[in-house]
Amino acid sequence: MQKDLLKLLDLTPEDITLILNTADQLKYEQKHHIHTDYLKGKTLAMIFEKNSTRTRVSFEAGMFQLGGHALFLSGKESQIGRGEPVSDTARVLNRYCDGIMIRTFGQEEVEELARNTDIPVINGLTDFCHPCQVLADLLTIREHKAALEGLKMCYIGDGNNMANSLIVGGLKTGMEVSVACPEGYDPDPRVLEFARSNPAHRFSLVRTPQEAAVDADVVLTDVWASMGQEEERAVRKKVFAGYQVNDELLALAHPGCMVQHCLPAHRGEEITAEVFEAHADEIFDEAENRLHAQKAVMYLLMRDQDV
Ligand code: CP
Ligand code: NVA
Repeated sequence: MQKDLLKLLDLTPEDITLILNTADQLKYEQKHHIHTDYLKGKTLAMIFEKNSTRTRVSFEAGMFQLGGHALFLSGKESQIGRGEPVSDTARVLNRYCDGIMIRTFGQEEVEELARNTDIPVINGLTDFCHPCQVLADLLTIREHKAALEGLKMCYIGDGNNMANSLIVGGLKTGMEVSVACPEGYDPDPRVLEFARSNPAHRFSLVRTPQEAAVDADVVLTDVWASMGQEEERAVRKKVFAGYQVNDELLALAHPGCMVQHCLPAHRGEEITAEVFEAHADEIFDEAENRLHAQKAVMYLLMRDQDV
């Protein structure tokens, strides 16, 4: 493993398997009330320049369960919001803390933070990617389907941070990945370049959800307008009409197809209320697995390596 978790493109398939296996082990220990204070005395600084419920709570609870402490820094209330350079903030946190989790806009900001610190930096979502979420998704799919290799993952919607991480995570774990996005809303070119370096049958980018959903083992979607795109909401509502996970679409998928959503969900937009409720157990397992996957990441990156 590298020092940081900045994006799934940086991880090897073996790194991802190690994280998922460690998450399984930590989940087992938590469910069986086995003490897991592997990060005793350690502090995680959590910088949020965007809203969050799951990421904040799962990192904070996870750090506590590992015997450590997590502290919340709001982008607005800290000096970052008043223009203090990220590199200065990084060099300060480097001297107080043992790890940094950051949710922000630009991926470059996270990469710069990592370059200016010796302590691990974990990406809690940028406009480019959402690696912690997708590690939780992979963990959930593996729990429900026993293995990832050979499954078909289908993503419907915006070629956003979730799409970018799902494509990379799916392909690196041996899944076949099909994506349906409207023209002009494709995933990031760096991700498409990686995807197209795989054998052609393993990745497809199409324009209709129906083409993408055929024989899928898991269908995923995400909001039509992400954080920071609030002003585009009305336009996006028109562009994405039809890019919805509903019963008709799922009828094209494999019987027993799972549905995953990173949440928050907009019922009646990217997913119908009926599909959401029919797959609520899988979706909330996915939300729970944020905790276990991130504990694994923190354990692997922040524990004392000499014990
Ligand atoms: N899925 C996710 O990252 O949720 P939050 O925005 O609530 O952290
Ligand atoms: N694409 C969404 C994901 C939220 C977890 C966003 O960036 O707002």
